[in-house]
Amino acid sequence: MDFDFEKYAAGREVLVSVHNIRRIFMRGEEEVHALNGINLEIYRGEYICVMGPSGSGKTTFFNMVGGLDSPTSGRVFIEGVDMAQLNAEELAFLRCRKIGYVFQQFNLNTVMTALENVTLPMVFAGVSSDEARARGMALLAKVGLADRWSHTPKEMSGGQMQRVAIARSLANNPSILLCDEPTGNLDLKTGKEIHWLLHDLNKIDGVTIICATHDHNMLSVSDRMVWISDGQIERIAAREDVKIEKASLGAHDDD
Ligand SMILES: Nc1ncnc2c1ncn2[C@@H]1O[C@H](COP(=O)(O)OP(=O)(O)OP(=O)(O)O)[C@@H](O)[C@H]1O
Ligand SMILES: [Mg+2]
Repeated sequence: MDFDFEKYAAGREVLVSVHNIRRIFMRGEEEVHALNGINLEIYRGEYICVMGPSGSGKTTFFNMVGGLDSPTSGRVFIEGVDMAQLNAEELAFLRCRKIGYVFQQFNLNTVMTALENVTLPMVFAGVSSDEARARGMALLAKVGLADRWSHTPKEMSGGQMQRVAIARSLANNPSILLCDEPTGNLDLKTGKEIHWLLHDLNKIDGVTIICATHDHNMLSVSDRMVWISDGQIERIAAREDVKIEKASLGAHDDD
């Protein structure tokens, strides 16, 4: 069934707008066309899953939306602001305050405690140490790790590390959370706990979430799914539209 875009978009506020972005990398003499004209509007409060085979351009796309890389052509707007028009300082502000990042490999600082990892972005944002500590503890409590605040990553399980990474991504109250295969290194059960944590952040706290995943379980928490193939959007569907397909994928334990 075709996605009824007009019905879906009615009354929603555009948070991220991506206009015909292309990204060409040079590998020696060879051009790699990682993104080949992506157009997408992401609405405030949405939970979007980005699916696609390895090498299809998911991470490249995330880096564009997150301001970690810029497109070869095309434009990305965040809350109506063209990212290409920002100077280095404004871009740093945007990355620090508006966008949270969660990566497959957690990317925690291994010699810092959970609390120090979570408060680090607050230090960059100029938050006082007392306030950072209080907010850091509140975020660790939110992800169920209040009692582990003094542990370093090597004393934690993969799921716990990813929870710390999620708490850190929320340090400065971002509007958008970019999660690049956040459950890729986790077992099924731990992965599901992370899904529900992200689900609650989206539904209760209203954080807009864009999540790249190969994990079909994640579809059950998302509002919309975007399939990318060879750097292009192949298909967009609302969750309701893929329920039938999911059923045909076999038993799905939604507990
Ligand atoms: N810095 C780079 N230099 C050259 N080519 C690159 C670079 N970054 C990505 N690519 C290429 O761009 C394409 C898209 O890569 P990308 O990492 O976005 O894929 P992906 O969908 O995230 O894959 P995966 O599921 O494996 O993470 C690939 O062909 C990749 O080799
Ligand atoms: Mg990737």
